[in-house]
Parts: sequence; structure tokens; C-alpha cells
Amino acid sequence: MLMKNNIVLIGFMGVGKGSVAREIVRQSGMVAVDTDDIIESMENRRIKKIFAEEGEPYFRDLEKRVAQWLQVSVNDTLISTGGGFYKVPQLNDIGTVVLLDASFKTIYQRIIDHPNAAKKLKKRPLFQDIDKAQALYNEREPQYKAVADIVIDVSGKDYETIAKEILEKTAH
Ligand code: S3P
Repeated sequence: MLMKNNIVLIGFMGVGKGSVAREIVRQSGMVAVDTDDIIESMENRRIKKIFAEEGEPYFRDLEKRVAQWLQVSVNDTLISTGGGFYKVPQLNDIGTVVLLDASFKTIYQRIIDHPNAAKKLKKRPLFQDIDKAQALYNEREPQYKAVADIVIDVSGKDYETIAKEILEKTAH
């Protein structure tokens, strides 16, 4: 199979995948999709509601369906993902996997510094309890690094710099 030309952004909730994706689009003109947005459209309800009404395993199955579609049908696209999407089996067949990496402290600070902090937390079912979120981060951090083709340390960098670094490193 030909190597796909997609960029797949992975990383923990709140690390800035959406903001970085928008900046990559601005700099490169690439088309972008977001796996959470696709799932919300498929289901016609918010992630929070899907978790509450169907539970997490149902959501993870939707992520797998989206991954299959991306693998078969999508190319030349910037794909931002939900924080748990990295677990889909064919992740590395979808494109070049780029991890946005930062410490839990940096990520949490970034969320609470945001003017819409309460809303940002509320929409994330797995970020309701800070100790549980920290534990999830600790569990995932080595797994993110294991699947990533490229790791970008985002702490202290603005979106413009991060996007530029990603476009250079992926030769886009
Ligand atoms: C999740 C992250 C969320 C969303 C869902 C589950 C996770 O996306 O997919 O709430 O398992 O880390 P963000 O990373 O955009 O918050």
C-alpha cells in the first residue's frame, strides 16, 4: 500500500490539537477533519451525551469506524483526533502520526487559563476529576510516544511555531 500523505495529530485532552490544526490549515491550506467532529455528526449528538447515554466502549467503536474510513478514503488531509483515538489498530496506516507532547501540569494550566475553561472541562467526560485525568495521562504518555512517528514538545511555544515545526518535519 502507498504511504498516505495525511498528518494525524494525537495527544492528551487539552494539549491544543484543535488550535494547532487550525494554524496548520492557515499556513498550508491543507483540508482538515477532526475525529470527534466526525463522530458528533455521525451520531447527531455531542461526545458528552454519547458517553452518558451509551458509555465509553460504544464511543471507542465509533472511533474504530472512523479510523477505517480514514484509512480507506482520506488522503492529503490534516486529521486531528480525540485523546483516546491513538488506540485504533490501524493508526499508523492512516498517515504520519504527530504527538503534541506536554506535561500534565502544562496541559491543565492551559485549560484553566482559557476564558472558556468551564466549558472546555464540561465537554470532556474523562476530565471531570483531576486525579483521574492525571492517572490517565500517566498511563497514556508512554503509549502516545510509542505510536508517534514525530514528537513535538509544545510547552512554551505558540501555535504558529508548533504548526511550522510540524509542516517542516512532515515535509508538507
Ligand atoms: C477523549 C478525548 C476527547 C474525546 C473524548 C475522549 C479521551 O477529545 O475524544 O472525550 O479519551 O482522551 P479531546 O482530546 O479533543 O479532548
